[in-house]
Amino acid sequence: PVTHAADLVVFGGTGDLSMRKLLPALYHSDRDGRLAPETRVIALSRGGLTDADFRGKVDAEVRDSVPVDDPGVWQRFLGRLHHVSVDVGHGAGTEAGSGWSALATLLAGHEDRDRIFYLASPPRTFGPFCREAHEAGLVTPRSRVVLEKPLGNDLASAQRINDEVGAIFDERQIFRIDHYLGKETVQNLLVLRFANAFLEPIWNSLWIDHVQITAAETVGTPGRRGYYDHAGALRDMVQNHLLQLLTLTAMEPPARNDREAIRDEKVKVLQALRPIAGGEVERFTVRGQYTGAGDLPGYLDEPGSTPTTEMSSRVETFTAIRAEIRNWRWAGVPFYLRTGKRMPYRRSEIVVQFKDVPHAIFPGGTPNRLVLRLQPEEGIELHIMAKEPGAGEVALQPVPMSLSFGETFTARVPEAYERLLTDVLAGNPTLFMRRDEVEAAWRWIDPIQDAWKATAGLPEPYPAGTTGPAGAHELLGRSGRAWHEEE
Ligand code: BG6
Repeated sequence: PVTHAADLVVFGGTGDLSMRKLLPALYHSDRDGRLAPETRVIALSRGGLTDADFRGKVDAEVRDSVPVDDPGVWQRFLGRLHHVSVDVGHGAGTEAGSGWSALATLLAGHEDRDRIFYLASPPRTFGPFCREAHEAGLVTPRSRVVLEKPLGNDLASAQRINDEVGAIFDERQIFRIDHYLGKETVQNLLVLRFANAFLEPIWNSLWIDHVQITAAETVGTPGRRGYYDHAGALRDMVQNHLLQLLTLTAMEPPARNDREAIRDEKVKVLQALRPIAGGEVERFTVRGQYTGAGDLPGYLDEPGSTPTTEMSSRVETFTAIRAEIRNWRWAGVPFYLRTGKRMPYRRSEIVVQFKDVPHAIFPGGTPNRLVLRLQPEEGIELHIMAKEPGAGEVALQPVPMSLSFGETFTARVPEAYERLLTDVLAGNPTLFMRRDEVEAAWRWIDPIQDAWKATAGLPEPYPAGTTGPAGAHELLGRSGRAWHEEE
């Protein structure tokens, strides 16, 4: 369906996220006929570009990354683009803040459109941006604001940002992005669990031994030191993406497919996470940092926009955590979370490891396993035991029953940002994080972060291109388990 006419104002509109993800996603929406003819994209930056400059930049940098089968559609898309130079932090009424009046002029007369402020900028700008947009008279009843991650770097800063943004926008107007929620498999997880009868009765500690949630990346962090030194894998990936996957895996069935019902259930999972604090971090968490190997530089030798400091040597580029959910369904079932840069493969998956059969009558069986793959290709695999063909003794073999989305469905699988932008334009916040969710996640992360900070020890080194430090293997090995790919 075509979304309501909108002015989509992107702060940080010429930045990396905008050029690599947002503009291609919007182009796809346009190409598929989902954007209303009047919809405009207004990029804000300090860059001093004209509309023509910005269109030229997008033509040069984005065109080759998207399928342009009809040049007319590409021209129509470029025609939607505008640029206004705006800097925040000076006050909308000051001379330095004069970009706001240029933006006001462009938006004037279009109050009947949805007005979306997409903040693809560092979190410290969220509060000032909203305040100045309000002072400039730009916030209409049809306005929404989209906040990119990271939402702060601990609970206190997240609360402050939420307060500042909440002073201008109602919670129902605030869309906090976690792009993992836009991935097809993640949404499919809910369908798999709640539109099929066979899984839910066994989706608990009686039948499930443990769950593994992995987001492994081959990339390092070149050029990102300024951000990454302050973030690390825990804040960059676990606080948001991995915990979101955990909540969707563990949540109780909501009564309705409705924004609040689903988010209510997710929050309850976060609130039930057993805190890990103080000396416990040694037992339940592992930190690693990649070192140079072959052609690959170590974290400390990656070219960065800022110099290497003492902080750089303390930051984790890998972490593995044994999380526990204290409720009836999950008591005693560990949820192992793991993420790292410069691992040997790019793979994100949720692995649900079932227990063994209660009584084995055939030798050689292995317990069932359900793998939900988010990356590289999206798909679902159920490993079941089957009999090897043959007339002799019964021999068992695990075989995968697999669903590859790419092979099963002919429709193009949209990128996460495309789905999420469509939802923003349609005003549907189900796949966005509510304030209490973000804060509950920080409440669990903060004590881990604090305990790490308090120890003198450094992250364990692991050579670039390997599966993480030895500690990560011990974390499971101690209870006789192993990471999925290592068996
Ligand atoms: C981002 C992180 O949120 O997610 C990056 O800041 C990370 O460090 C990226 O590389 C991973 O996203 P994806 O979709 O490639 O798994």
